[in-house]
Amino acid sequence: MSALSGKTILLGVSGGIAAYKAAEIVRTLAQRGASVRVMMTRNAREFITPLTLQTLSQNPVATDTFSLTEESQIGHIRLADSADAVLIAPATANVIAKAAAGIADDILTTVLLATRAPIAFAPAMNVHMYAHPTVIENLTRLRTRGAIIIDPAEGELACGYEGKGRLPDLAAIAGVLERLLSTHDLAAERILVTAGPTQEAIDPVRFVSNHSSGKMGFAIAGAAWRRGAQVRLIAGPSALATPFGVERIDATSAASMLSATAQNFQWATVLVMAAAVADFRPAHPAAEKLKKNSRGLELKMAPIADELPRLALKKVTRLIIGFAAETENLEANARDKLKRKRLDLIVANDVSQPGAGFGVDTNIVTLYGTDGIAESLPKMSKDEVADKILDRLAVLRAAKSKRLRAVR
Ligand code: PMT
Repeated sequence: MSALSGKTILLGVSGGIAAYKAAEIVRTLAQRGASVRVMMTRNAREFITPLTLQTLSQNPVATDTFSLTEESQIGHIRLADSADAVLIAPATANVIAKAAAGIADDILTTVLLATRAPIAFAPAMNVHMYAHPTVIENLTRLRTRGAIIIDPAEGELACGYEGKGRLPDLAAIAGVLERLLSTHDLAAERILVTAGPTQEAIDPVRFVSNHSSGKMGFAIAGAAWRRGAQVRLIAGPSALATPFGVERIDATSAASMLSATAQNFQWATVLVMAAAVADFRPAHPAAEKLKKNSRGLELKMAPIADELPRLALKKVTRLIIGFAAETENLEANARDKLKRKRLDLIVANDVSQPGAGFGVDTNIVTLYGTDGIAESLPKMSKDEVADKILDRLAVLRAAKSKRLRAVR
């Protein structure tokens, strides 16, 4: 369940071109169970109508501090008090400057001073405006006072420029609010996640790989960050965007992925191996591109050593979660890997089932722990599977800490 479920989010929309995206923001937050109340500046109303946002949020939209009707229905102080979190998106340079200076000359800026809820700003503006020293200074002031600044994304801007200034994607914005409102049950953890496929070179232009998209591992990384953890993600080749807040380390081959894992292992308190690391690689990759011929090509494949059992020997207080991608004998194979690889938990997926495993947005998994508990989950989104795995991690951590306290 999303940390936004049952919460009231006050969305402040200011007047930049990205204001039209406020409609999608309202829908995304509402889909995650939040009650959204919108307040708009006068300039924002030039870009999108209050009626659109009122219809989508199913709540009255606040536009005017001095409106007799609005004040009698829900006054600005009550609006400020009702919020579990406030999100200003898009936040223009103007509204950022007013908030930094404490100016309260409209409903949005007045509520910003009156609320005691955490505030997140999602700046969106022209690349040169965003880089202007005044804007940087104002954002620093807001950050110092405890506000969260959601870094804009890079790309093509509505003004025709390329660069940093786009409103970040909706999942990132919702993710920041989820982290803000989560119970932070994983705040003590530094979680290292591997995700995606590996590519093993045949020659400089060809490789052997598998169908992993990275979705499962990326979902775990994002969910862990939202629950308060620090997260590093070692990603094989994948087109997916890095989940907000997560530090990404790219790897291509099994060798580079496993060496990055070993290098970051000391930093981590938890390792989650969701990547589909190759078991074999071409034994003699060609230095030059192999020429086409009528005889065909025979490839000798060499095994790739599995790093997990070796890392597990050094785990001490760390927890290690592995995956088992199987097409037959799911339980027996998973339990064997759990033991042989010295894991604390294994996530078994029968990748031959529709809606499970490689490439799709859903998964069907069973979690086998060293605590003897087997938990079969129905088909659910990979985001939901990620949260279930992390729930189990929290239980394993509590048990491990208790055991360690007992020996001391
Ligand atoms: O990326 P998606 O498209 O979302 O697909 C998700 C997934 C199917 C890739 C994922 O759910 C999954 O099952 N990942 C593990 C795939 C896999 O390689 O399973 P395995 O049973 O072959 O390996 C068992 C464990 O050993 C894994 O944790 C693996 O990361 C690890 N391993 C494997 C080989 C190797 N050389 N070194 C390893 O450490």
